[in-house]
Amino acid sequence: MLLLASLCVASLVSVQALDNGLALTPPMGWLDWERFRCNVDCENFPNDCIREELFMQMADIIASEGYRDAGYEYVNIDDCWPAEERDANGRLQPDPDRFPSGIPALAKYIHGKGLKIGIYQDFGVKTCDGYPGSEFYMSVDAQTFADWQIDYVKFDGCNSDVRDFDEGYTVMSRFLNLTGRPMVFSCEWPDYQTRQGIEPNYTAIRSACNLWRNHDDIQDSWQSLLGIINFYGEDTYNFSSYAGPGGWNDPDMVIVGDFGLSYDQQRVQMAMWAIMASPMLMSVDLRHIRPESKALLQNRNVLSINQDPMGIQGKRIMEITPNQPPRADPVQIWTRPISPKGTFAVAFLNPSERGMPSTVSVVVDDLGLTNGSGYNVTETFDGVSMGTVKPGQNITISVNPEGVYLFTATPL
Ligand SMILES: *[C@@H]1O[C@H](CO)[C@@H](O)[C@H](O)[C@H]1NC(C)=O
Ligand SMILES: *[C@@H]1O[C@H](CO)[C@@H](O)[C@H](O)[C@H]1NC(C)=O
Ligand SMILES: *[C@@H]1O[C@H](CO)[C@@H](O)[C@H](O)[C@H]1NC(C)=O
Repeated sequence: MLLLASLCVASLVSVQALDNGLALTPPMGWLDWERFRCNVDCENFPNDCIREELFMQMADIIASEGYRDAGYEYVNIDDCWPAEERDANGRLQPDPDRFPSGIPALAKYIHGKGLKIGIYQDFGVKTCDGYPGSEFYMSVDAQTFADWQIDYVKFDGCNSDVRDFDEGYTVMSRFLNLTGRPMVFSCEWPDYQTRQGIEPNYTAIRSACNLWRNHDDIQDSWQSLLGIINFYGEDTYNFSSYAGPGGWNDPDMVIVGDFGLSYDQQRVQMAMWAIMASPMLMSVDLRHIRPESKALLQNRNVLSINQDPMGIQGKRIMEITPNQPPRADPVQIWTRPISPKGTFAVAFLNPSERGMPSTVSVVVDDLGLTNGSGYNVTETFDGVSMGTVKPGQNITISVNPEGVYLFTATPL
């Protein structure tokens, strides 16, 4: 009874973000899913299957090749890590052939690299790939993860009833809290609801989760990337306004360095994930990555927009038809307020495939830049100064097809 009473008080006071002290800026790290999927065939694919060596190798590289210093912190395991059955005490156990050392040993290894470890479970009776789910076991699973020194839990929603989510995800969040170990809680709650036409309760979601997926899984293609960006541009149910320190909309993993995107398209994902205050979970084989992709992933100027401490998610504010070329798609303009106060990050996104850069002009006031003495403007990727602009003046930008132009405007 006492326990229930204190839980109620806790939920009344936590009207804002989940109060676990974590994810004050969007979480950064690595997650195997988009690149490595559910490959459990270690005999034929020893280097690419889901097993402890894969996560140890990624942790080694994140620590030794500059990713950790750029802010990437979590090494996260997705589906397909558990054994087919729970143990005799009903606790989850990892697949004995692929994780012979056990998860606590892997956690210790990853912690030893100055990094943190994340794991995956599912609200339903089974995970998406058919491993034991958490339904009827949420309390024991939360405690198991805490005992294993886990730092981050992704909670999927396959094989369950979406009508139970408002209650179920909230309960899992409380079970995690009751372990006493702060663990980032990553939810798929609004994603499954939106797919079924249910309006997510983002107030409840923000009070229970540190990040939440609200749209389709990312795939390794421009079409998939642009679909997600456009979903965020539509901003149905005004979900962008729920992002902030402690809780973030999650447009899914970063596929920079994989197979599907051109260099310009990879810049688009970096720029837009920065504007959208998105978690940065790389899903790429860091053992085999081109230097230019690695440099993009570690671009400090772009990451500092992503990690801005105010945590305001940017929005698409307009779409304008380019002066040139004819019949090109409208260029999208997105803005995000960042610190110091009065500063904006601005992205001009060109979704067009019409073979030459699109040129657009806009009066700076229309971007929300109204500071009378004007702004210093700096291109972000290369950190190159573009001079100053004042309200009333035009700003003219040329953007590559399927590319982006990202800059900051700092008040003078
Ligand atoms: C649990 O919730 C309380 C109240 O919101 C909070 O003060 C505490 O830090 C949380 N603990 C963990 C481990 O998340
Ligand atoms: C959304 O969740 C909040 C917090 O749990 C609750 O107070 C509110 O009534 C819910 N809104 C709807 C429309 O269900
Ligand atoms: C969206 O949220 C913002 C910030 O809370 C608010 O000012 C605005 O009115 C909301 N818009 C809609 C359409 O609900």
